[in-house]
Amino acid sequence: MSNTPKRYTITAALPYTNGPIHIGHLAGVYVPADIYARYLRMQGNDVAFVCGSDEHGVPITIKAKKEGVTPQDIVDKYDGVIRQSFKDFGVSFNNYSRTSAKVHHDTASAFFKKMYDDGKFIEETTQQLYDEKAGQFLADRFVTGTCPKCGNEEAYGDQCESCGTSLNATDLINPKSAITGEVPTLKETRHWFLPLDQYQEWLDEWIVKGHAHDWKSNVHGQVKSWLNDGLRARAVTRDLDWGIPVPVEGGDGKVLYVWFDAPIGYISSTKEWAEREGKDWEPYWKDENTKLVHFIGKDNIVFHCIIFPVMLKAHGDYILPENVPANEFLNLEGKKLSTSKNWAVWLHEYLEDFPNQQDVLRYVLTANAPEAKDNDFTWKDFQARNNNELVAVFGNFINRVVVLTNKYYSGILPEPNKYTKVDEQTIAELKAYPAVIASSIEKYRFREAQGELMNLARLGNKYLADEEPWKIIKTDEERVKTVMYVALQIASALATLSEPFLPFTSAKLQKMLNFTDTENKLSGGEYSQWDKIATRDSLLPAGHQINKAELLFSKIEDTQIQEQLDKLEATKTANAAKEKEVEPQKKTATFEDFTKMDLRVGTIIEAHKMPKTKKLMVIKVDTGLNQRTVVSGIAEHYKAEEIIGKKVTVLANLAPRKLRGVESEGMILMTENAAGKLVFVNPDEDGVEPGTTIN
Ligand code: MF3
Ligand code: ZN
Repeated sequence: MSNTPKRYTITAALPYTNGPIHIGHLAGVYVPADIYARYLRMQGNDVAFVCGSDEHGVPITIKAKKEGVTPQDIVDKYDGVIRQSFKDFGVSFNNYSRTSAKVHHDTASAFFKKMYDDGKFIEETTQQLYDEKAGQFLADRFVTGTCPKCGNEEAYGDQCESCGTSLNATDLINPKSAITGEVPTLKETRHWFLPLDQYQEWLDEWIVKGHAHDWKSNVHGQVKSWLNDGLRARAVTRDLDWGIPVPVEGGDGKVLYVWFDAPIGYISSTKEWAEREGKDWEPYWKDENTKLVHFIGKDNIVFHCIIFPVMLKAHGDYILPENVPANEFLNLEGKKLSTSKNWAVWLHEYLEDFPNQQDVLRYVLTANAPEAKDNDFTWKDFQARNNNELVAVFGNFINRVVVLTNKYYSGILPEPNKYTKVDEQTIAELKAYPAVIASSIEKYRFREAQGELMNLARLGNKYLADEEPWKIIKTDEERVKTVMYVALQIASALATLSEPFLPFTSAKLQKMLNFTDTENKLSGGEYSQWDKIATRDSLLPAGHQINKAELLFSKIEDTQIQEQLDKLEATKTANAAKEKEVEPQKKTATFEDFTKMDLRVGTIIEAHKMPKTKKLMVIKVDTGLNQRTVVSGIAEHYKAEEIIGKKVTVLANLAPRKLRGVESEGMILMTENAAGKLVFVNPDEDGVEPGTTIN
């Protein structure tokens, strides 16, 4: 394969700093991007893998408002959490920057200024949505309404998440302010627009015609459909105070649209890295021989395939992406992941709950990667893949090889004898793997690539199971030498080929086998260790000393999985409570009104369900005044025997009334918990939320 090394600029979508990273982000963007970057580095390519925090934009302002803090507080907090969790997870960014950094403000500002000076924008005064109450223009996520294309009633001012259409706020039907809930008015304001329509033909040539076969069909299809609908000019400035100030005359009080500044963040991150490393950043963005690849989720396609390329083209001097391998979405236990609804497996929490098991999550997310369609993450599947695949196949094979080599040969590789047919066949299969895995990675089919890696582990497992060295050792010691030698070659190939997918495991395995791939990493035209698997007769020579066995993977127990499922169950309950509307307050009651009510503590002394009814319970209560009968609608929530002896609050002077022929003299006060169960009034009871009425 000995490809000549190339220069690659690999970008991973800049995460919004309005929440931590969850498995959806990882599966969609960061895990595949990291596999790709690691693989390319192993092939000796010159790689700049860049990312950073996306710190502007409306979601951050909204979150800050909600929490009563400044946007800067929000971005500082989440930039910290995100940065650390990526590091602990082993994402091999060459640089992770942030869009509040000076280098980014300068870069984005200059980018805008050049386009402005070159007359690439249209300057126009238009009517925009305005919230009179908040005294603010409404764009993007500050406004919701009905999508004119698909009828989704919760479309945002910049995009409908239901059908993926990119919108202008004024396109929304029945717009509503996300700040105050008011219906916006229209107010004049001046902005700069990027005339996307002027690039329609060029985009058609470049993507629709030019990348019909090498871009993923989900990406190509989306672009084609936007172009079919016809592109329109899009405002790239906003009337906001959080963002990068518009650096031209008339720009006071205005900032760059977040989707204008954020992708430029890839460039600023590259600059920051190059400066630190004493390199020149420009070839990574301007040399025609550099391959630019954007890893993103499907909701980002329009921005990376249309808007940013148009910006790069309009600016001039920049290269365009060679590919944009966008993924579909990952769901969690059958439901859409959501930061605001806390429906997620958060990376920083996973790292705490499963210490040193980064590779397990990487493995499962790649095995289930939503490459061609949305996919589901379930904790049961996570456990099964760990226990049945990583532990039982990969881990088991390596453990047998290393333990037996230590046992039979004190850890020194034996000299092999003549290969049998099976040995030759096995070696031939082994030699085919590097190219097969590489080819899948190069086509952005990471799930398939990782599947092949596991097939190699299966090959090793099968070889040992068939050759049974632990049996033959009693009869034919010479044969065992050959078997162990061949098995060790497979083990060492696994150590190398697993690096992009399971970097922590690869490092552990290299340590166990006492070799290091880094020494073999090529510089300029040499064969990489990856390729040596196919070209060399042996990777580990006879006489090589290996180390003692260490466990690569360990079984995940049911209790650990149950804990995670319980966490999700608690989220569901909390969300149900939040969603329940709080009833509006009733008309004012005077003190006199209140004193009319005679509330007493009572004890339930008898209870039985009223025959032929579902809900009614006939209860005898001792109120201290007397023992009386109260009919209460709680039979679906309690069994009679459960409530006998309970102390309750009774409205004693409620006018008596007959229910199904039984006279009820008073009322027992009840409320409802988050799960919808009626409970006796005790605000301290689990799941009773503020605002729930008592009646
Ligand atoms: N913050 C955006 C999101 O999470 C992605 C920004 S990607 C960039 O959807 F290109 F703008 F940087
Ligand atoms: Zn829509």
